[in-house]
Amino acid sequence: MNISNLWNAYPVPSFLIDRGGCVLSINPAAESLLNSSQKSVKGKSCGDVIQAGLDFAGLFSRIHHDQNDININDITVAIDQKTALMCNIQIAMMDQEQVLVLVLPRKNIGRGGMAVGSAAKSAIGMAEMLAHEIKNPLAGITGAAQLLEMNLSAQDTEMTDLIVSEAKRIVKLLDQVEQFGNVSLPTLKSVNIHDIVDRARMSAAVGFASHVTLIEEYDPSLPDTYVDPDQFMQVILNLLKNAAEALPDTHGEIRIRTFYEQGLRLRRDGQQTAFLPLQVEIIDNGPGLPADIARNVFDPFVSGRENGTGLGLALVSKIITDHNAWITIDSQPGRCAFRISLPIAPKSKD
Ligand SMILES: Nc1ncnc2c1ncn2[C@@H]1O[C@H](COP(=O)(O)OP(=O)(O)OP(=O)(O)O)[C@@H](O)[C@H]1O
Ligand SMILES: [Mg+2]
Repeated sequence: MNISNLWNAYPVPSFLIDRGGCVLSINPAAESLLNSSQKSVKGKSCGDVIQAGLDFAGLFSRIHHDQNDININDITVAIDQKTALMCNIQIAMMDQEQVLVLVLPRKNIGRGGMAVGSAAKSAIGMAEMLAHEIKNPLAGITGAAQLLEMNLSAQDTEMTDLIVSEAKRIVKLLDQVEQFGNVSLPTLKSVNIHDIVDRARMSAAVGFASHVTLIEEYDPSLPDTYVDPDQFMQVILNLLKNAAEALPDTHGEIRIRTFYEQGLRLRRDGQQTAFLPLQVEIIDNGPGLPADIARNVFDPFVSGRENGTGLGLALVSKIITDHNAWITIDSQPGRCAFRISLPIAPKSKD
């Protein structure tokens, strides 16, 4: 068997990339994944062909530098303008001039969206159990500190105050972890997106986002969507909160945009294709996602803030996945946009 037969028969979508980051060749499995011929993608930049929001140039130079393969798990790859798949990507160096990129669609992903991966799920399960177990001794510690405090001079109570306030902070964090595990499956209803989005906007305006300018750009002609209103509200609030937290005290701006885009179609294993034409975008003019965590922001406990628990976006991801909806991020300094794509409500039978 010669190499070219092997390349043609190899069932994993594979891309051969030159030193400048352009596609040299793709195998038939890659052609069928992308629905494009080798001819049409040859010479194009790798990032345009494998649309995964990855900095391929940076990854390639890292590979050349470290001489190590890179594996990236749970990444969403836009297959064409309308379809996206959850994939694992492996990048290996062939020689000084060529890099091999393998894109492995994950068969067991099932539920579309930026899913919370199974490792993350078991991490959450563990954290939930721990949360439960830690709360009891913590209550004991707080109680003991409060008892001690009664016999101490005002000067010394500083330390017991610290114990109590820090313990309270841990309890709050644990509550959030427990709450995370308790999110039930959504109860879907036909709702007007704007009813929910605008309630979230008003709540943000008088609370955590009072220091920023909130701009509404709604398309009032949008048809109803099909979501769990409370959970969807929680998603919007979390995104607004993150945006507000990323913005400075002056000149901060959050744009809330709703619009219709025929585009996105989500393909899921064994299920019908879902059409997600209703778009909600939360766009801020802050610094964008910190580069070191940008790829993992949907994982639990990943935070770029000093006091962040890193559960906000993990919760968003869980809810979006449970809705079979879709969330994407387009982040750069000066513009950080989270886009949620939602279905239209089914026509009522009466
Ligand atoms: N709009 C944004 N602009 C810049 N960075 C953001 C934005 N949204 C999220 N991030 C980054 O992503 C991280 C993860 O967000 P996430 O909501 O999951 O956790 P958190 O806000 O740190 O904590 P929590 O929401 O649990 O209080 C944030 O800490 C922040 O660094
Ligand atoms: Mg948050």
